[in-house]
Amino acid sequence: MDRFKYLGQLVNINEIKTVEHDVIVLGAGGAGLRAAIECSMQGLSTGLVCKSLLGKAHTVMAEGGVAASLGNSDDRDHWKVHFRDTMRGGKFLNNWRMAELHAKQAPDRVRELEEWGAVFDRTKTGLINQRNFGGHRYPRLAHVGDRTGLEIIRTLQDRGVHQGIEVYMECTGLDLLKDGDKIAGMVAMWRETGEFIIFRCKAVILATGGGGKAWKITSNSWEYTGDGYGMAYEAGAELMDMEFTQFHPTGMVWPPSVRGTLVTEGVRGEGGILVNSENERFMYDNIPERFAPETADTEAEAERWLDGDKGARRPPELLTRDVVARAIRREVKAGRGSPHGGAFLDIASRRSAEDIKKKLPSMYHQFKVLAELDITKEAMEVGPTLHYFMGGVRVDADSQMTRVPGLFACGECAAGVHGANRLGGNSLSDLLVCGKLAGSGAVDYIKSTATPNLNNEQVKYIIRSATNILNRESGENPYLIHEKLQDLMQSNVGIVRTDELLSEGIDGVMDLWKSFQSVKADGASQFNPGWHQAIALRNLLITSEAVARAARIREESRGAHTRVDFEGERDEWLQYNVVLSKNADGTMNAERVHREAPGKELERIANLSIEELEAEVRQERGVE
Ligand code: FUM
Repeated sequence: MDRFKYLGQLVNINEIKTVEHDVIVLGAGGAGLRAAIECSMQGLSTGLVCKSLLGKAHTVMAEGGVAASLGNSDDRDHWKVHFRDTMRGGKFLNNWRMAELHAKQAPDRVRELEEWGAVFDRTKTGLINQRNFGGHRYPRLAHVGDRTGLEIIRTLQDRGVHQGIEVYMECTGLDLLKDGDKIAGMVAMWRETGEFIIFRCKAVILATGGGGKAWKITSNSWEYTGDGYGMAYEAGAELMDMEFTQFHPTGMVWPPSVRGTLVTEGVRGEGGILVNSENERFMYDNIPERFAPETADTEAEAERWLDGDKGARRPPELLTRDVVARAIRREVKAGRGSPHGGAFLDIASRRSAEDIKKKLPSMYHQFKVLAELDITKEAMEVGPTLHYFMGGVRVDADSQMTRVPGLFACGECAAGVHGANRLGGNSLSDLLVCGKLAGSGAVDYIKSTATPNLNNEQVKYIIRSATNILNRESGENPYLIHEKLQDLMQSNVGIVRTDELLSEGIDGVMDLWKSFQSVKADGASQFNPGWHQAIALRNLLITSEAVARAARIREESRGAHTRVDFEGERDEWLQYNVVLSKNADGTMNAERVHREAPGKELERIANLSIEELEAEVRQERGVE
């Protein structure tokens, strides 16, 4: 009998419930659901574990649409143009193969969703309607008003449940189990009862989203604590590109209770403009050289573009998110901000009240209810909010497998598709494309893998680490540690960074690691939010340390990573990713690693001018 003591009781380890599946998917947002559907469709016994309720995921925060070159609203669209836009938006740091797979496969994934019951908005001729978004050459975002993510989750959830996936809700994944170097399972905890559960499986797919909760102002909800990053790192996988954290330019800034809540880019896609306190449309002064040939420099041209004039260039409000977020920050710093420290986003003077309510119903409702503001009559106040991680777990492009055999990651949890900056709407297409790839990757891996053995010592270690937090007589308050971390990341690892700020940030995180060693949650193990918070802290700290260390190493400004002490993109840095892993002594290793050279054809496509690429597409289609 293998007995061990936790929570003051001697327990036989065999009494801890153990469940067997071929594969466990952790995280039930779009990526996790799509991966689980794939595994189940291909005959695997599939368990889907999520710490929240099924359907409650950050996927719903991608409100404005899913990007795919369907060509319904502009028939010039083509995967090559989507690929080129994505590479340019990512400042060419994207994994070339991933960006290719993403652009090529997104249309099929969207059409498949439609077959599974997603109800997209329609064009006049009955096709899936597509709208404009930042950095996309054509109207490319298939949408359902401003509730696209929600509709995608609803559709996938329905499909998954009928597919026979077993769902474990309100169940927190703690850590992974290994048999030698291979994945063998996962230990998790039921949030309600505090009881533990062991999952034995041949493969685990991490789809836990990002770690926005390390910052104070974020569009992320409580679940986004970097769990996948922490678990993968502890299991021996690598993290990559963690310095690239996206600040969505338009979060609510007022009232304080909802600061950071997302205001969809769809508002700008539908013609909304940004102005400062002097009523100047300041984005005209913020057009980077790279995007100048494709950006309107007069209001008249921007209007013509919105009215569908194919010869006009797009408005500067639809520049990529990194550019718009920095421009808003600049206005605020220069004393031209809105009363609560943001900029004004005005759709009221551009579109009729009827149009606004039809196209942006959630935004109308959100501002009415949360800010007592009618967006059909008044401008919104908006400012940057931490929204998304471009970096994440390092995976193989085709299979989504990490360097740990049997461990996969997809969606926001994985690095690669988006490089230094993600285009809006590319997260939904990423999670559909890469979710399916991860599912297929796991199916292939499992075919040639024997059932792994469980190691009781690993199980005990994981359970003890969690229960020590309750068993200590006294210690540090988990909420206070979290609050300090959020303040630190907000002030030292924010939109604009310097070596000094980042060094202080790293030191601050290391101090918080010390506090974490003696973190103490009061109360019992049954539904105990303080305990849950303390458990999440380990992953938040790994995530924060990785972001700060990677940001300090990258001595250039690229995409979402801005170093005022190293302005502008540096060619040398285009050759490297920053990769982080755990050293044998428990410290974090951060190093720059050479990127694979791009295939000649992909490089050619990405570097064509838009006129050349449009001509190539016309020729390919035999259109003159
Ligand atoms: O602005 C938005 O609707 C967010 C979309 C996204 O992050 O892709």
